[in-house]
Amino acid sequence: MRTRNGKSTGFLISALALAALAAFLWIFSAAKGREYRAEAAVTAVPTSTVHAINLVSAAAALSAPETHFPPGTQAPDAEERLTAGPTALTAAETPVQPNATPAPTAVYLASGSAGEGVRTLQQRLKDLGFLEGEADGQFGRATKAAVVLFQKQHGLDADGIVGEKTWRTLFGDSAHTVVVTPTPAAFHGVAESVPVLVNKQHPVGSDFEPEHLVYIADVIPPDVAVLADKKAQGVSEAVYALKTMLEAAIADGVGHWKIREAYRTYDAQKRIFNNYVSKYMEDGRSRSSAISATRLTVADPGTSEHHTGLAFDLNASNTSDAFVDTAQYVWLVKNCWEYGFVIRYTDEKEDVTGFLGEEWHYRYVGVEHARRMHEKGMCLEEYLEWLGAAE
Ligand code: DAL
Ligand code: ZN
Repeated sequence: MRTRNGKSTGFLISALALAALAAFLWIFSAAKGREYRAEAAVTAVPTSTVHAINLVSAAAALSAPETHFPPGTQAPDAEERLTAGPTALTAAETPVQPNATPAPTAVYLASGSAGEGVRTLQQRLKDLGFLEGEADGQFGRATKAAVVLFQKQHGLDADGIVGEKTWRTLFGDSAHTVVVTPTPAAFHGVAESVPVLVNKQHPVGSDFEPEHLVYIADVIPPDVAVLADKKAQGVSEAVYALKTMLEAAIADGVGHWKIREAYRTYDAQKRIFNNYVSKYMEDGRSRSSAISATRLTVADPGTSEHHTGLAFDLNASNTSDAFVDTAQYVWLVKNCWEYGFVIRYTDEKEDVTGFLGEEWHYRYVGVEHARRMHEKGMCLEEYLEWLGAAE
């Protein structure tokens, strides 16, 4: 038994020792492998430098169905797909801002990146219609805006950074061309038409209703302007122009806007007119005197410019001073024409318009008409006459 068993015991011990050694080596190499991959994940994209995979060949590879890795590299296992190892990296390094904190991915392009990878990205964005201009290899503002738009339209986080996911989507089957949605149904040609004239001599019918009315609250948020009437409406093109104008004023440091009046129906005009007449009569005027006094500041029903949906009464929400004495008014006098608005009633033109000056009443006519009216110092009646003569 000893001899036989001794031999077989010795054999058994050797076999066990070998097995233990093999097991140790296997565990050690597996641990090393994990360590390696973990390290690759962390070092693939350091904060101050970007290691990019060979983006040009990767682009071609990603666009080919089922082949998601550059030719010549081995398809990695599932874990490696998530944390692309160093074999996927080339020496190409593109500096980005030092404080960028990229995700641990092999593809990372962001503002400040430059080189072939950016050029490939730009070309792809151009092909899909998200970017215009030259693919110059510089990741600037336009490229970022195009990336953000692409991400938005593909259900990705719209952070303007091209990581692995955005890159794969860009070159994957689901990538589609840009969807052009013209900014909100705002433009209906008001600016291009001859401005409509509504005044004492040019009434509109009692049942007139302008096209393309929108609720101002749906367009202009309260941090841009508060509304005296939450249900106030205006013609969309004019409301969007108003929004742009007020945002520009705010950017210039002139905020606290209030929109007091906008579109007015025939019935609303009738109510306002009658209220004024009653007030004057309460103050002791005869009916005819009350009507004459009212007509200096309030249009007869059917003759108010507010009926067009193109006129807005603006106020300052931060002061009870007369509007003429506010910073908001000063800003509008200087700038409103650039946004297509004119101060419709001024003291100087009282004889022409038939109304006392109203520094709060702004009428949208479109930028080109407003510019010419501003340059020529004409009110709408004068401008239309000039326009007629000029044609
Ligand atoms: N206050 C202006 C003239 C209007 O009533 O339409
Ligand atoms: Zn008004």
